[in-house]
Amino acid sequence: MAENSPFLYEQIAGNIAGLIARGTYRTGERIPSVRQMSKQQDVSISTVLQAYLLLESRGLIEARPQSGYYVRAPEVDQLPEPGISSPGPDPSRVSLHELTMMVIRDTLNPNLVQLGAAMPNLELLPTDRLNRIVARLARNSGAEAHQYQLPPGLPELRVQIARRAVHAGGQLSPNDIVITSGGIEAIDLCLHAVCKPGDIVAIESPMYFGTLQSLEVHGLRALEIPTHQRDGISLEALQFAIEHNPIKAVLVISNFNNPLGSCIPDEKKKELVELLARHDIPLIENDVSGEIYFGDKRPSVAKAYDTKGLVMLCSSFSKDISPALRVGWTAPGRYRSEIEWLKFTSSAATATLPQMAIAEFLETGGYDHHLRHIRREYASNVARLSQAVMRYFPPETRVTRPAGGFVLWVQLPGAVDSLELYKKALENGITLTPGYLFSPTNQFSNFIRLNAAAWTYPIERALERLGGMVAEMAG
Ligand SMILES: Cc1ncc(COP(=O)(O)O)c(C=O)c1O
Repeated sequence: MAENSPFLYEQIAGNIAGLIARGTYRTGERIPSVRQMSKQQDVSISTVLQAYLLLESRGLIEARPQSGYYVRAPEVDQLPEPGISSPGPDPSRVSLHELTMMVIRDTLNPNLVQLGAAMPNLELLPTDRLNRIVARLARNSGAEAHQYQLPPGLPELRVQIARRAVHAGGQLSPNDIVITSGGIEAIDLCLHAVCKPGDIVAIESPMYFGTLQSLEVHGLRALEIPTHQRDGISLEALQFAIEHNPIKAVLVISNFNNPLGSCIPDEKKKELVELLARHDIPLIENDVSGEIYFGDKRPSVAKAYDTKGLVMLCSSFSKDISPALRVGWTAPGRYRSEIEWLKFTSSAATATLPQMAIAEFLETGGYDHHLRHIRREYASNVARLSQAVMRYFPPETRVTRPAGGFVLWVQLPGAVDSLELYKKALENGITLTPGYLFSPTNQFSNFIRLNAAAWTYPIERALERLGGMVAEMAG
């Protein structure tokens, strides 16, 4: 190719645009580096740079610092979003354990395409580094790794967590933190600490089914509060509910509700904390996916605005480091001594070696670099799955636009029952999570949750088949 052609960079840009249009380079994928492209096309680096700038200005690719150029999601029409939820005004008991455990059992089947459980993508976990850390700790720590780390848990880990919390606006000291076995235990202990059987807990609607299981086990009544698909719990509805019910605790997934992907804006978090402070009601805040944000900066936690010790912040390392190490934590404010007692009573301590491994990873493992990588990958996989839903599902389908995390919440045409779809999908080798699991009052019978953590050819084919089933059931 003649290097002195005045339009050479445009030709190169045109070739790459063609490759993107034909799907050779797909949304979220990295295109060859400037150097590679310069070699491939036998042109200068500056010509390639001009071509990439042109593609960037046309919105086809984007530069990501220290990583390269990536294909952007096309600005096609998106499916509409589901609207704000509208549950009934009365509290209700939860009775979902049979359905929940049926879905959980199917999650264990390796022969199914797993779109059901919100498992992180194994390829995006820092497993090699973690395994090296665990091996070294096991070799060098002698008996130390075999001693109980009684509540509140390993001091070095609590120091690391307190340092990390600063990024989310939390001013925590290591003494504010109690280590738990995963986020699920943290939330369960918090509910146990502030409620007794029969009490009413206000929750976002829809709500992650693991938490509904805690309500069920403790005999608590759920009061579902209308929740916006982007901004989370409605404060007006919550205030009304507080004025008409003896609410003992409020439970929100402040950053990236599972299944909505909603994020309560920082200013609204502050208002939420102030509202509850006026009524002296504890807020149990679930932030397990808070680090997996798609925007420019880490959203804050409601805990950052807590002046009365009423916010019980809960999180874990299950979504971004390793779900299997089962390391979570809570900063339960004024309820710390109850939580320590309950933790001791339920399991004495969280296993020591995993605590040591997470502490060392946080201190030395390049956590920020790892997070930057997985945020990009999850954002891209969520976009691709969402596009596939648009491609293969009936046009009346609605889908959320998550601000973080890696699940999609899909509203199917009204005639489609998500449990029937679940059974049909299972016969076809696919799992999903039926909407029934996310509400004690069947608010979401025609919704499903899809895990968007990974994007592969079999997943795309599974979505195509699923879309066909939905279309057939929708008539
Ligand atoms: C919102 C939410 N909370 C808690 C959990 C459980 O966290 P862990 O595995 O740390 O117990 C999950 C896991 O799917 C979740 O999505």
